[in-house]
Amino acid sequence: MENEMTSMPRIGDKAPEFEAVTTQGKIDFPGDFKGKWVILFSHPSDFTPVCTSEFVMFAHLSEELAAMNCQLVGLSVDGVASHIAWLRTIHENIEFNGLKNMEFTFPLIADVKMEAAQKYGMIQPNESTTTAVRAVFFIDPEGIIRAIIYYPLSLGRNFDEIKRVLQGLQTIDKHHVSLPADWRPGKEVIAPPPATYQQAKERTEHPEEGLVCSDWFFCLKKLPEQEGKA
Ligand code: BEZ
Repeated sequence: MENEMTSMPRIGDKAPEFEAVTTQGKIDFPGDFKGKWVILFSHPSDFTPVCTSEFVMFAHLSEELAAMNCQLVGLSVDGVASHIAWLRTIHENIEFNGLKNMEFTFPLIADVKMEAAQKYGMIQPNESTTTAVRAVFFIDPEGIIRAIIYYPLSLGRNFDEIKRVLQGLQTIDKHHVSLPADWRPGKEVIAPPPATYQQAKERTEHPEEGLVCSDWFFCLKKLPEQEGKA
């Protein structure tokens, strides 16, 4: 398997289409979610401990994401009966991070033939030929893939980062800005750098109000909703 290529969609691509059976009935992906952000994620297997801890956290996050116009859609290669039994077990028996009795209102795809997983490069043969890795695809309301994170089988995902990526993408689209390292809501954003030599000179000699510049190309600013806040 070492030389086998895994085809993976890339940032900026149209999200590959598929139909699937899920714990919430059949879905047509991504068409059924047009107009919403979608986080499509895969997990290796039902009834495994890392995945179980992640599902507690996905359930916890799903309401907050809904308030951000974002739908979670999960996927593994297990069947729908296994998914239902596992989610019921998590609801009844599992406590993690102080959370218990979790409810699952988002669809979990039963991709038993690995058709969707293959389209999204979730089967990475040198990690496992029989299960999906932990992939996270951020898809915008127009069905375009905007960010991708992959984790290996034995490392649970960081849920603060999943939420931060969505918040970041929505902020980028709303304000047409870039965001610096470790940006979080409420922190300064990057002011677009000058496009010409003359603009660079003007910015150095007469910096616009509200810009904090360390150099002509590196200026931070507050977003309008942060103006006046320390
Ligand atoms: C887990 O979720 O615990 C797990 C699943 C597949 C491989 C390794 C760990």
